[in-house]
Amino acid sequence: MFHKERMIALKNFYLTTPIYYPSDNLHIGHTYTTVAADTIKRYKKLQGYDVFFTTGSDEHGQKIQEKAAQAGMSPQAYVDKIVADIKVLWNMLEIDYDSFIRSTDPKHEKAIADIFKKLYDKGEIYKDQYEGAYCTPCESFWSDSQLVDGNKCPDCGRETHLAKEEAYFFRLSKYRDKLLKLYEDNPEFIQPESRKNEMINNFLKDGLDDLSVSRSSFDWGIKVPFDEKHVVYVWIDALSCYLTALGYGTEDEANFNKFWPADVHLVGKEIVRFHTIIWPAILMALDLPLPKKVFGHGWILFEDDKMSKSKGNVIYPEPIIELYGIDAFKYFLMREFSFGQDGSFSREKFLQRLNSDLANDLGNLVSRTVSMIEKYNGGILPSPKAVEELDQTLITQATETAGKVEELMDKLNFSNALEEIWKLIRRTNKYVDETMPWILARDGNTERLDTVLYNLSESLRIVSILIQPFMVRTSDEIRKQLGVEGAVNWEDAKTWGFLKEGTKLQKGGIIFPRLDIKVELERLNTANNKLIEKRTGARKETKSEEKKPEAPVEVEPVEEITIDDFAKVQLKVAKVIACEDHPKADKLLVLTLKVGEETRTVVSGIKQWYKAEDLVGKKVIVVANLKPVKLRGVESRGMIMAAEDADGNLTLLSTLEDIADGSSIS
Ligand code: MSP
Repeated sequence: MFHKERMIALKNFYLTTPIYYPSDNLHIGHTYTTVAADTIKRYKKLQGYDVFFTTGSDEHGQKIQEKAAQAGMSPQAYVDKIVADIKVLWNMLEIDYDSFIRSTDPKHEKAIADIFKKLYDKGEIYKDQYEGAYCTPCESFWSDSQLVDGNKCPDCGRETHLAKEEAYFFRLSKYRDKLLKLYEDNPEFIQPESRKNEMINNFLKDGLDDLSVSRSSFDWGIKVPFDEKHVVYVWIDALSCYLTALGYGTEDEANFNKFWPADVHLVGKEIVRFHTIIWPAILMALDLPLPKKVFGHGWILFEDDKMSKSKGNVIYPEPIIELYGIDAFKYFLMREFSFGQDGSFSREKFLQRLNSDLANDLGNLVSRTVSMIEKYNGGILPSPKAVEELDQTLITQATETAGKVEELMDKLNFSNALEEIWKLIRRTNKYVDETMPWILARDGNTERLDTVLYNLSESLRIVSILIQPFMVRTSDEIRKQLGVEGAVNWEDAKTWGFLKEGTKLQKGGIIFPRLDIKVELERLNTANNKLIEKRTGARKETKSEEKKPEAPVEVEPVEEITIDDFAKVQLKVAKVIACEDHPKADKLLVLTLKVGEETRTVVSGIKQWYKAEDLVGKKVIVVANLKPVKLRGVESRGMIMAAEDADGNLTLLSTLEDIADGSSIS
């Protein structure tokens, strides 16, 4: 079918997810935003839009620098590994993104330096003293509202004191009234509505302070181009990814010109503030158009609690996908939770929906429709002949569902949109019960039987289009079984009578088998725990466990280096002359090393394995020419070397015989 609409020039649509911190592997919460964005992209594409979808990784900042140091890696190597895992996850889920922007991409870094300079030149950014309550061990300034017990640091509980630090500031305060006007003139700008009220009452009502937009206490960031002691505040760096993903500030700005401003930024509720206050103000300062909408969705909780690695309640998507496929998983995410609100994840709820909505409702409709056509008509689609009043109710509902879904999708109400589609699926199943094709067949009422079979197939074809943005594979599979492969578009879901008499159907397997919930709960739990163990390096006690058969050894591909590459690394023998716990971090020790004539401090994440006092007097191996980094306020110059076995046990390296500290290793 050819549609007039398709001849009209394509409309553009730009949407984004947050760019995630690659400090740890992503969990079901991050997946939620990305799956929602993917769903919107597919929906808009079906409607004929030209869509650009950006996601990515937010790789700078103190937290990442510290995490990397704890893992004994450079920040870049650390994030590279996690970003690779993130991309594998998005591939697994068949996320149809157009740009994966990394904030360490040199093009992005250059554009940010230019943006900073431009804002400085325009007088939007100025240099001043930052004055506030300062915690020396944590090297952090805290605002009055963050302090605890009077003037104590919320992180370590120690007394803070008033201090000053040089920093660059963005004139955020001058945008307060403009932001209020923006919200008033564009009621859709912040969604849901309640989040807008939060922004006004909690942040804008009493005025805005200028924003400190540079840091000098750590260096893992984009350097301020005209003052390299400072790095750009991570949120300025990160938010601007939405522009640089489109090539803004590079030699090729075609996508920027085509797609900016964004139609929607999808974000979790905790970062709405950055997207609706700081971001529009920065864009106004740059004289750039503002995004049309920021949607702050709710959180996925686990047993009503926030997921966190330390609580051990993180749900990873990979085991669910591996066991039940991507469509069941995506369907659940979009159906179970109301997008604007928090919701609690449970494996039971997931399995129940799989059984009721997917196996019973949709799976059953597909298999009974195709089976009956096979049985009663040799697998060939008949034409409708004897129409009854009842048919019209089905036809009306089927052709009107797309319109209802549109209204809900435009509000990003995925859950109710799916509910509308499922009403049609359940209505169609009921139609089978009402018309009883097996009785029509028994009685030789072929005209009526043909009509019923045709109507069932048509309704299913419409369903296959409506679910396409959510479940591409299932949608394709249904159309394959109906014998109507090929491209579809949204308008086809509003038209009845698309299927052609004589089409050969192709009966396939069961699309969603019914599951035994008890058995599956066990499987899911085990698979998630296994992955948590693998990712945290933690190993459970195996004493009472039976010895498992040995798994085949996986050999990681190794990148070969030349002797010249190796020669760049300066390894030296060092003697530990003092060692103490890091005042601020749980996992770190601060070692004072004597390396020949020189004394240096190295911070190392080995506290789990060594007591500070046990190390004094020992000789260790240090990577002596590693770029210094500050870890929670302590400068670390070099890295001491350790070996780790498959069970995560760690031991420091030393030499076989005693040798003078300062000796070179080659
Ligand atoms: N790097 C910043 C975002 C910069 S955007 C310019 C960041 N990253 S993050 O890795 O912490 O990701 C936060 C986002 O992940 C949330 O805003 C939300 O989209 C998603 N989620 C993370 N945990 C979540 C839940 N438990 N539930 C739902 N979504 C949550 O913030």
